[in-house]
Amino acid sequence: MVLRTQVAIIGAGPAGLMLGALLARHGIDAVILEARSRDYIEHRIRAGVLEQGTVDAMDEVGAGARMHAHGLVHDGAILRFGGQSHRIDFRALTGKGVMIYSQHELVRDLVALRLGAGAPLELEVEDVTLSGLDTAHPEVRFRRAGHDTVLACDFVAGCDGFHGVSRAAIPADQLRIFERDYPFAWLGILANAAPSSHELVYAHHDRGFALLSMRSPEVSRLYLQCTPDEDLARWPDDRIWTELAQRLAADDFTLTPGPITQRSITPMRSFVAEPMRYGTLLLAGDAAHIVPPTGAKGLNLAIADVRLLAEALAAFYAGDPALLDGYSAACLRRVWKVERFSWWMTRLLHRFDDGDFAHRIQRAELDYVTSSAAAATTLAENYVGLPLR
Ligand code: FAD
Ligand code: DHB
Repeated sequence: MVLRTQVAIIGAGPAGLMLGALLARHGIDAVILEARSRDYIEHRIRAGVLEQGTVDAMDEVGAGARMHAHGLVHDGAILRFGGQSHRIDFRALTGKGVMIYSQHELVRDLVALRLGAGAPLELEVEDVTLSGLDTAHPEVRFRRAGHDTVLACDFVAGCDGFHGVSRAAIPADQLRIFERDYPFAWLGILANAAPSSHELVYAHHDRGFALLSMRSPEVSRLYLQCTPDEDLARWPDDRIWTELAQRLAADDFTLTPGPITQRSITPMRSFVAEPMRYGTLLLAGDAAHIVPPTGAKGLNLAIADVRLLAEALAAFYAGDPALLDGYSAACLRRVWKVERFSWWMTRLLHRFDDGDFAHRIQRAELDYVTSSAAAATTLAENYVGLPLR
């Protein structure tokens, strides 16, 4: 079978689904191909902090109703070290806040929008291969329910995450890779426990970093710095709660435990592939770059990329290729600033075994960030989200 569309979108994560929704608003046809099932992508637990630009994009495509009904608006966050809490007031420092809303709920909203509009979303596709990327007539081949299909298109949007096929389809000599691994990971849990703080708590502690976050007034999301090869079997519930209580301890704070419903280990990596375009293939989101999770930027970067990409494709189809020609450079300017911020937040808050001098510098930086309005504003304006371009 041969199908034809304007833009073939690989991957129905936040990037692919949002791109499809934005293109539909411009009257541009797209087919989204996704390797996993609807149930899988709608229950995959990942990020939870939305910048205003991400909230705006959800509103723009008409998928924001549940987010506004259930999301929690946060105007600040707590940095905790030496057992003391220091509030960074995002609203006072920047005029903006963030929205706490689960990534998988955002995915659910965008899937519902797409299926409700009758727009093509091919789930559980196999053996996706890209060809003709250096021509004006690329093709995507895939198999679904035993049937082989060729999807002919003008452009391929590689929104298939870090392990997808899109970036891998670019000849190695056409890409430059920048990366950094960190000597630790995050052990993350979801728990049926009322959040022990109204705002997120980022805790630096000699035992390692801890983060208290939430998903709703009844569900807590918490993270612990751990080793990259940590064995979850060695972390029964009691041990997790005891460790969290130690790292998050402060005079005015009591951690409320509850049944743990999900646990996982997230590796920490910084990664950028340049450029984000090869011929008629355009990369967006995790397919092109990864940030360590400290600062909650991965999902927001993915949405920011596709906002630029949708605008650029709309201009292209209206006869002006300039934005598309500048897509990679425009994205990378923002991507590198966010890479810097995520690297800096990771560096600021985790325990690194790099000696006493480095440790004292780290404590001085924490003290500086929480006592200087200029430094706190720098953190706040990055946290709530830098401008799109
Ligand atoms: P993805 O969400 O990865 O979507 C890519 C989609 O492509 C997936 O649905 C995948 O199934 C599909 N796909 C892959 N290969 C193919 C193929 N060959 N054919 C078709 N489809 C394919 N960020 C934060 O800010 N805070 C967090 O706490 C946080 N936690 C995370 C935890 C984990 C375990 C992971 C992996 C990431 C986490 N992130 C977090 C990062 C954030 O979730 C990502 O940055 C975000 O999902 C990027 O969206 P995306 O659409 O680019 O990619
Ligand atoms: C969450 C994840 C983050 O990486 C972060 O910095 C803040 C919150 C979360 O999953 O809620």
